[in-house]
Amino acid sequence: MRAAITGVGFIGAAHIEALRRLGGIDIVAIADPADAEKKAQAFFVPRAYADYKTMIDTEKPDVIHVCTPNETHCEASMYAIEQGIHVLCEKPLAVDAQQAEKMTRAAQEKGVVCGVNFINRFYPMAFQMRECIREGRVGRIFSIHGGYLQDWLFYDADYSWRLESKISGKTRAASDIGSHWMDLCEFVTGQKITEVCAEFTAFHSTRKKPKKTPETFSNMLLTPEDYTEVPIDTEDYASLLFRTDGGALGSAILSQCFAGRKNQMTLAVSGNKSSLYWDSEDACRLWMGYRDRPNELWEKDPAILSSNTRKWTNFPGGHVEGYPDTIKQVFRSFYQAVTEGGAGSYDFADFAAGARQMVLCEALMQSAQERKWIKVDALKLMN
Ligand SMILES: NC(=O)c1ccc[n+]([C@@H]2O[C@H](COP(=O)([O-])OP(=O)(O)OC[C@H]3O[C@@H](n4cnc5c(N)ncnc54)[C@H](O)[C@@H]3O)[C@@H](O)[C@H]2O)c1
Repeated sequence: MRAAITGVGFIGAAHIEALRRLGGIDIVAIADPADAEKKAQAFFVPRAYADYKTMIDTEKPDVIHVCTPNETHCEASMYAIEQGIHVLCEKPLAVDAQQAEKMTRAAQEKGVVCGVNFINRFYPMAFQMRECIREGRVGRIFSIHGGYLQDWLFYDADYSWRLESKISGKTRAASDIGSHWMDLCEFVTGQKITEVCAEFTAFHSTRKKPKKTPETFSNMLLTPEDYTEVPIDTEDYASLLFRTDGGALGSAILSQCFAGRKNQMTLAVSGNKSSLYWDSEDACRLWMGYRDRPNELWEKDPAILSSNTRKWTNFPGGHVEGYPDTIKQVFRSFYQAVTEGGAGSYDFADFAAGARQMVLCEALMQSAQERKWIKVDALKLMN
């Protein structure tokens, strides 16, 4: 299998590493307008291009990984799909629901396999939550809670392209981290969010934009003469209430300004038999709570996990599997679909799942703007 990658910043590098750990896939080229040659050398990739179109036309890869900032996801994916190339695209799938739906339709019409890198499904103990629910251990779901907290945008001097709605999209906390949370929530519970009530806020109405562009998470240090003050039009924080099609109620907090929480996702599910709680910062454990007997703390040990979860664990108990492992497992699931022509049922998120998240993000934004509950437009839901 020949793969090519467009965009080699933080996550593009993680894709290269995960593909190599998976094996059986040749990374034939990368495309990036910034230092493509240097990056190709650093990652031992044979060829480098400044733009993805030339790369696709020249290399004709089997699969393209789209790891660029959000505004380019649609254009690059559509270009590849038109040529019958399978696409693994980063999240959020696009800058709005309209683009995401266009991409989904194109993928379906062309019959190519298209996936979105929603990695959290593949933390073994998050996956095990889903299995516990499917096996009936939790019972009827009463409520679902949790959130996604980060602190990398805590200061007004923290800056990234993610703060620019033209590049990043109409929402930020919602689409950047909320899409991860809502995808996991729906995947684990098997229920769809049907109605939302959200509150959005930007703690910093202006931020200090550096005159040079730093790559995300590069920890570049700035002095005052290095930046300009710019207005911010997307949310640092979103809180949401929701209802699901299974009759559950839920709530979640999303924040990119929560000091000390580097990248924490939590998901709690309460049912009429037991409750579950998982925390990505303690990813190899799953808590299960009971009313009438002692609570349980499950360890990530393939010997005690459900057989479906065991597929996505590659190391024995006591050997931590974390963020880079989830990316590898997304790719295992995705490349299996590519190999089988997409004929089976797979655990990775497809473009329809990515488009669904864009629809949900827009429902959250509309709710926050109109200060009322919003029904998620059923016509727009494609899976
Ligand atoms: N799934 C996850 O867990 C996860 C984690 C981080 C980022 N992401 C997503 O990955 C994408 C990239 O984020 P990042 O943090 O790696 O950003 P980044 O800023 O670190 O890197 C982006 C890279 O894309 C390059 N680029 C910009 N425009 C390009 C173009 N037109 N063609 C080719 N390359 C181009 C930049 O030069 C840079 O090297 C975003 O959509 C983000 O939401 C997903």
